[in-house]
Amino acid sequence: MSHYLFDSAAAQSAGRFSVLESCYDPVSRRQLELTGLATGWRCLEVGGGSASLGDWLGERVGPQGEVMVTELEPRWAASRHRPDHVRLLRHDIVHDPLPGKDYDLVHARLVLLHLPERLAVLDKLVAALRPGGWLVLEEFDCGWTPVLAAPDASSMDLFDRVHAALMSLLETAGADPLWGRRVLGAMALAGLGELTASTYAEAWPGGSTGIALHRHNTDQVVDRLTSAGVSATELEQFQSLLQHPEFVVNSYPLISARGCRPQESNKQGPR
Ligand SMILES: C[S@@+](CC[C@H](N)C(=O)[O-])C[C@H]1O[C@@H](n2cnc3c(N)ncnc32)[C@H](O)[C@@H]1O
Repeated sequence: MSHYLFDSAAAQSAGRFSVLESCYDPVSRRQLELTGLATGWRCLEVGGGSASLGDWLGERVGPQGEVMVTELEPRWAASRHRPDHVRLLRHDIVHDPLPGKDYDLVHARLVLLHLPERLAVLDKLVAALRPGGWLVLEEFDCGWTPVLAAPDASSMDLFDRVHAALMSLLETAGADPLWGRRVLGAMALAGLGELTASTYAEAWPGGSTGIALHRHNTDQVVDRLTSAGVSATELEQFQSLLQHPEFVVNSYPLISARGCRPQESNKQGPR
């Protein structure tokens, strides 16, 4: 079983996927293009959520190519129509065997961050590449979410307190909220070459599309937050703050890291 904190079958997941798609898909598409993505490529999209990026990859590679989108809970992705060369598979990247090999491109966004087995999964994803194939991992660094503007000092403290409690729950579930800053180094140790990374962040004002991510995330674990000492009143104030026009918080920085499997793998086997 996965340790993923958020139940992907819950209604809030649709909201989470929608925010991720609106705020980060344009960034991810640019990063994926930088691999040289071309017609006919074979791609693996891991933990694809709503499959918005998997479907876009399908358009880019065309029917001469193929895209395999895997997801622990594919119900949201299954509601979208897609052509035959884009396949959706219920799959646990930790425990299930890889659905294929010799991929030109493997991509995962905000999946390994959640998995205690992230280094073993990384090795698995590298093994899924053809020599010369690209791995693109995009992960948050949840350790840099400064409040950029607030109606008063107590709102800043409130945001930081509730956010810290959420991060604590994630860590207890086995997530690494700082995985974004570690991912490039881990990819180097996994034997990838031609490594590079870039980071994207923006301001999220109260009421904006992006800031709703905090609402979906906290809504989904209200019971656990209250057990961790966040009061119902604080949660209510937190939700109001997310709508306040004078409140602005930095988005989660998304680190997009990419690396290429060498023609002759210099990795001696599993770490
Ligand atoms: C934060 S969401 C990101 C979704 C999507 N990649 C995106 O960026 O829009 C994390 C996703 O990873 C999936 N996931 C978690 N554990 C998984 C596992 N062991 N195998 C496959 N997918 C998993 C979840 O179901 C969820 O859809």
